[in-house]
Amino acid sequence: MTNVITFGTFDLFHYGHLRILERAKILGDRLIVGVSSDELNYRKKNRYPLISEEYRCHIINSLKCVDEVFLEKSLELKRDYIRQYRANILVMGDDWKGKFDHLKCICDVIYLPRTVNISTSCLIEQIRRNSK
Ligand code: CTP
Repeated sequence: MTNVITFGTFDLFHYGHLRILERAKILGDRLIVGVSSDELNYRKKNRYPLISEEYRCHIINSLKCVDEVFLEKSLELKRDYIRQYRANILVMGDDWKGKFDHLKCICDVIYLPRTVNISTSCLIEQIRRNSK
Protein backbone atom coordinates (compact mmCIF):
# COMPACT_ATOMS: atom_id res chain seq x y z
CA MET A 1 0.00 0.00 0.00
CA THR A 2 1.56 3.30 -1.10
CA ASN A 3 0.29 6.40 0.70
CA VAL A 4 0.73 9.75 -1.01
CA ILE A 5 0.43 12.98 0.99
CA THR A 6 0.13 16.55 -0.25
CA PHE A 7 -0.66 19.95 1.22
CA GLY A 8 -2.29 23.19 0.13
CA THR A 9 -4.86 25.88 0.82
CA PHE A 10 -7.17 25.08 -2.10
CA ASP A 11 -9.02 28.39 -1.73
CA LEU A 12 -11.54 29.11 -4.54
CA PHE A 13 -11.01 25.55 -5.76
CA HIS A 14 -9.89 25.55 -9.41
CA TYR A 15 -8.61 23.34 -12.27
CA GLY A 16 -4.93 23.58 -11.18
CA HIS A 17 -5.91 22.22 -7.75
CA LEU A 18 -7.84 19.32 -9.27
CA ARG A 19 -4.97 18.41 -11.63
CA ILE A 20 -2.30 18.25 -8.93
CA LEU A 21 -4.54 16.03 -6.79
CA GLU A 22 -5.37 13.73 -9.73
CA ARG A 23 -1.68 13.42 -10.65
CA ALA A 24 -0.69 12.83 -7.01
CA LYS A 25 -3.24 10.03 -6.62
CA ILE A 26 -1.85 8.13 -9.63
CA LEU A 27 1.53 7.88 -7.86
CA GLY A 28 0.14 5.55 -5.18
CA ASP A 29 -2.91 3.79 -3.76
CA ARG A 30 -4.23 6.35 -1.27
CA LEU A 31 -4.15 10.15 -1.39
CA ILE A 32 -4.11 12.07 1.89
CA VAL A 33 -4.48 15.86 1.74
CA GLY A 34 -3.47 18.37 4.41
CA VAL A 35 -5.63 21.46 3.95
CA SER A 36 -4.06 24.59 5.46
CA SER A 37 -6.09 26.03 8.32
CA ASP A 38 -7.43 29.58 8.15
CA GLU A 39 -4.91 30.67 10.80
CA LEU A 40 -1.98 29.03 9.03
CA ASN A 41 -2.97 30.87 5.86
CA TYR A 42 -3.10 34.15 7.62
CA ARG A 43 0.42 33.55 8.92
CA LYS A 44 1.65 32.33 5.49
CA LYS A 45 -0.04 34.74 3.05
CA ASN A 46 -1.13 37.57 5.32
CA ARG A 47 -4.79 37.13 4.41
CA TYR A 48 -7.59 34.77 5.39
CA PRO A 49 -8.87 32.45 2.64
CA LEU A 50 -12.20 33.45 1.07
CA ILE A 51 -13.57 29.97 1.69
CA SER A 52 -13.51 28.72 5.30
CA GLU A 53 -11.34 25.76 6.32
CA GLU A 54 -14.48 23.73 7.00
CA TYR A 55 -15.81 24.24 3.46
CA ARG A 56 -12.37 23.75 1.86
CA CYS A 57 -11.93 20.42 3.69
CA HIS A 58 -15.43 19.35 2.67
CA ILE A 59 -14.77 20.15 -1.01
CA ILE A 60 -11.42 18.29 -1.07
CA ASN A 61 -12.93 15.33 0.80
CA SER A 62 -15.68 14.98 -1.82
CA LEU A 63 -13.21 14.41 -4.70
CA LYS A 64 -12.98 10.96 -6.27
CA CYS A 65 -9.16 11.06 -6.17
CA VAL A 66 -8.93 11.92 -2.43
CA ASP A 67 -9.08 9.29 0.32
CA GLU A 68 -8.47 11.30 3.49
CA VAL A 69 -8.31 14.95 4.54
CA PHE A 70 -6.94 16.66 7.63
CA LEU A 71 -6.36 20.23 8.71
CA GLU A 72 -2.73 21.37 8.43
CA LYS A 73 -2.15 23.65 11.41
CA SER A 74 1.55 24.42 11.06
CA LEU A 75 4.07 24.39 8.20
CA GLU A 76 6.68 23.05 10.61
CA LEU A 77 4.74 19.83 11.28
CA LYS A 78 5.18 18.24 7.83
CA ARG A 79 7.53 15.57 9.19
CA ASP A 80 5.00 14.64 11.92
CA TYR A 81 2.09 14.52 9.48
CA ILE A 82 4.09 12.28 7.10
CA ARG A 83 4.79 9.87 9.98
CA GLN A 84 1.26 10.04 11.41
CA TYR A 85 -0.36 9.22 8.05
CA ARG A 86 2.35 6.69 7.10
CA ALA A 87 3.03 8.52 3.85
CA ASN A 88 5.55 7.00 1.44
CA ILE A 89 5.48 9.91 -1.02
CA LEU A 90 5.21 13.65 -0.45
CA VAL A 91 3.91 15.56 -3.48
CA MET A 92 4.30 19.32 -3.78
CA GLY A 93 3.84 21.76 -6.66
CA ASP A 94 7.12 22.82 -8.27
CA ASP A 95 6.69 26.31 -6.80
CA TRP A 96 8.17 24.55 -3.73
CA LYS A 97 11.02 22.85 -5.66
CA GLY A 98 13.91 21.91 -3.34
CA LYS A 99 12.17 23.26 -0.22
CA PHE A 100 11.28 19.83 1.14
CA ASP A 101 14.36 17.85 0.11
CA HIS A 102 15.30 17.48 3.80
CA LEU A 103 12.32 15.08 4.13
CA LYS A 104 13.81 12.66 1.57
CA CYS A 105 15.20 10.60 4.48
CA ILE A 106 11.66 9.59 5.54
CA CYS A 107 9.76 9.46 2.20
CA ASP A 108 10.07 10.15 -1.53
CA VAL A 109 9.60 13.82 -2.35
CA ILE A 110 8.12 14.59 -5.77
CA TYR A 111 7.57 18.10 -7.15
CA LEU A 112 4.92 18.19 -9.88
CA PRO A 113 4.75 21.01 -12.44
CA ARG A 114 2.01 23.54 -11.74
CA THR A 115 -0.83 23.95 -14.22
CA VAL A 116 -0.06 27.10 -16.18
CA ASN A 117 -2.07 30.32 -16.17
CA ILE A 118 -4.30 29.71 -13.15
CA SER A 119 -4.03 30.41 -9.43
CA THR A 120 -6.27 31.60 -6.62
CA SER A 121 -4.42 34.94 -6.51
CA CYS A 122 -4.94 35.38 -10.30
CA LEU A 123 -8.64 34.61 -9.97
CA ILE A 124 -9.05 37.14 -7.17
CA GLU A 125 -7.17 39.73 -9.24
CA GLN A 126 -9.30 39.02 -12.34
CA ILE A 127 -12.56 39.30 -10.39
CA ARG A 128 -11.33 42.59 -8.86
CA ARG A 129 -10.45 44.00 -12.30
CA ASN A 130 -13.75 42.87 -13.86
CA SER A 131 -15.80 44.46 -11.10
CA LYS A 132 -14.33 47.94 -11.62
N1 CTP B 1 -1.25 24.21 -7.93
C1 CTP B 1 -0.97 23.74 -9.21
N2 CTP B 1 -1.24 24.51 -10.30
C2 CTP B 1 -1.78 25.73 -10.14
C3 CTP B 1 -2.09 26.23 -8.86
C4 CTP B 1 -1.80 25.44 -7.75
O1 CTP B 1 -0.47 22.63 -9.38
N3 CTP B 1 -2.01 26.46 -11.24
C5 CTP B 1 -0.93 23.38 -6.77
C6 CTP B 1 0.12 24.03 -5.86
O2 CTP B 1 1.43 23.80 -6.38
C7 CTP B 1 -0.13 23.31 -4.56
C8 CTP B 1 -1.66 23.04 -4.58
O3 CTP B 1 -2.07 23.22 -5.95
O4 CTP B 1 0.54 22.06 -4.55
C9 CTP B 1 -2.40 24.02 -3.69
O5 CTP B 1 -1.98 25.32 -4.06
P1 CTP B 1 -2.53 26.66 -3.42
O6 CTP B 1 -1.38 27.48 -2.94
O7 CTP B 1 -3.62 26.38 -2.49
O8 CTP B 1 -3.19 27.34 -4.75
P2 CTP B 1 -2.76 28.59 -5.61
O9 CTP B 1 -3.76 28.70 -6.71
O10 CTP B 1 -1.31 28.51 -6.00
O11 CTP B 1 -2.99 29.79 -4.57
P3 CTP B 1 -2.30 31.25 -4.45
O12 CTP B 1 -2.48 31.94 -5.76
O13 CTP B 1 -3.07 31.91 -3.32
O14 CTP B 1 -0.85 31.02 -4.11
